[in-house]
Amino acid sequence: MAIDGPAGAGKSTLARRLAARLGYLYIDTGAMYRAVALWALREGIGFEDGVRLEQLALHAEIELGENRITLNGEDVSVAIRAPEIADAASRVSALPAVRRAMVRQQQRIGEAASVVMEGRDIGTVVFPQAEVKIYLDAEPRVRAERRLRDLEARGEFPALDAVERDIRLRDERDRTRADSPLMQAPDAIYFDSTGLSAQDVEEELLRIVRERTSNGKEVQR
Ligand code: DC
Repeated sequence: MAIDGPAGAGKSTLARRLAARLGYLYIDTGAMYRAVALWALREGIGFEDGVRLEQLALHAEIELGENRITLNGEDVSVAIRAPEIADAASRVSALPAVRRAMVRQQQRIGEAASVVMEGRDIGTVVFPQAEVKIYLDAEPRVRAERRLRDLEARGEFPALDAVERDIRLRDERDRTRADSPLMQAPDAIYFDSTGLSAQDVEEELLRIVRERTSNGKEVQR
């Protein structure tokens, strides 16, 4: 199952919950780009240095656990959630060579197991044959409010306007890049989560998924 959409739309929460209920693996592809971006920043590699960034992307050993992401054996789950890493991930992910390396890994994971994979290009590029595709959206202000709550949980307290501006800038970059821009696949279900709780979104989409798939059964606990 593919879930795409802009930053703060609620993709991670939804993908994680659907995966748990369906007994699928949850794959956060944004975390992979964030891990490469973190490594690049630490190495002092500029975002225009495509050759070195490609080498990093090819050599990055990224493990996606249930709640734990490791880069070359180091737990980077917290470090990759910093706002500057979100911005850096958006920049490095615009490079075709970096995308190629990540997409290859994502396809390998998806071919080996049933997955709920979330990102920007899952339904369009990574798994165009996905059984169910969801494009999850919400108004920018609402997405900024959600992102602000995440940041506050990390002990950071930026102004809501600043968070909204960053989100809009990042979305603009993700939507207008030449390679695999963020867009809705023609056969994706468009769903606007503005004004809905995570619980509402989960129930509604699970209902849609069940209608569309033969094996949209819940896992018996
Ligand atoms: O989902 P996220 O906010 O963690 O993603 C961080 C950045 O990574 C996002 O701004 C664009 C990039 N990304 C991408 O280009 N393709 C994906 N499939 C996932 C993320």
